[in-house]
Amino acid sequence: MVKAIFNTFSPLIRRKLNRSLKHLIDWKFWPKEDICHALELSQTVKHKRWEFQGHMQGNTLVMLFQKTSTRTRVSFEAGMSELGGHAINLDWRATNFTLSSIRFETKYLCRNAAMLMARLKSNADLLEMEQAASVPVINGCCNLYHPCQALADMLTIAEDRDGAISGAKLTYIGVYNNIVNSLVSISVALGVHLTLVCPIRDSASVDEEARQRLLQAGQLKETLDIESAVAEADYVYTDTWLDMEYFNDPSYDQEKNKRCDLMLPYQINSKLMRQSQAKIMHDMPIHPGYEIAEDMVESEQSIIYDQAENRLDAQKAIMLHLLHGL
Ligand code: CP
Repeated sequence: MVKAIFNTFSPLIRRKLNRSLKHLIDWKFWPKEDICHALELSQTVKHKRWEFQGHMQGNTLVMLFQKTSTRTRVSFEAGMSELGGHAINLDWRATNFTLSSIRFETKYLCRNAAMLMARLKSNADLLEMEQAASVPVINGCCNLYHPCQALADMLTIAEDRDGAISGAKLTYIGVYNNIVNSLVSISVALGVHLTLVCPIRDSASVDEEARQRLLQAGQLKETLDIESAVAEADYVYTDTWLDMEYFNDPSYDQEKNKRCDLMLPYQINSKLMRQSQAKIMHDMPIHPGYEIAEDMVESEQSIIYDQAENRLDAQKAIMLHLLHGL
């Protein structure tokens, strides 16, 4: 009730009163109980969708994209609309972030927005935004983390197991990247056992602290034995082998070809999955014929579209928690 009244105040008044500003840069910065709560809230929001209509009335989310997006853009905007709020989309290249500092531009945005969601290339830039912000900042995917995707992934697994997520066995096959870091940090809180099959692992891409936490919890296994990793998995997950901003860039052709040669034995295909009942996951966008064979995308074992759909409710839960403390 108090929170509801608080949110009817102008952004300026809210900023002055707000003593409990919380952001989502990655799950590793949230306590375990808050992560479990975010998952439960995602399930509630999904199943009691109409009960949350109007919860964002009068609130604006500003979305800032330095990279392309389909799901993040659509699901945040649809989420705000369904909750009775409004979303403004900014393409970085069309803003004055290109001329001024992240600090100054962010401080301005917070004079109009109730929340910011940013897809920035660099985590350092995102942290600069977080430092300057007087409203919640949500990471819409940076070079190190993709927390919104990870919550949608966990919601998908929880639904598939009738809510019993603890003990689920998830095998990720691919490059060690931002998806992996966020899966690692959310898994430790939710009791998910993660097996990583990552032939390409650049140390600058690995959140070693999060990795150590999962290792110490006894929930992380790392191997290049793809057959055994699939044999023991409930879920098999893959992602692009090359950062999406480089995928169609001819200047990265040499690196792309090198990665494809190395990674092709780690493709999810019918031969790999022939003995397995594991569900197939992918965060999308899909590159058929690379990390996953085209016929696997819509196979009976695939839950890829459910996973992508769940971005909507996961992010509604994140926004409701950050803005209203639900
Ligand atoms: N998975 C994901 O973030 O999709 P988009 O890049 O299309 O937003």
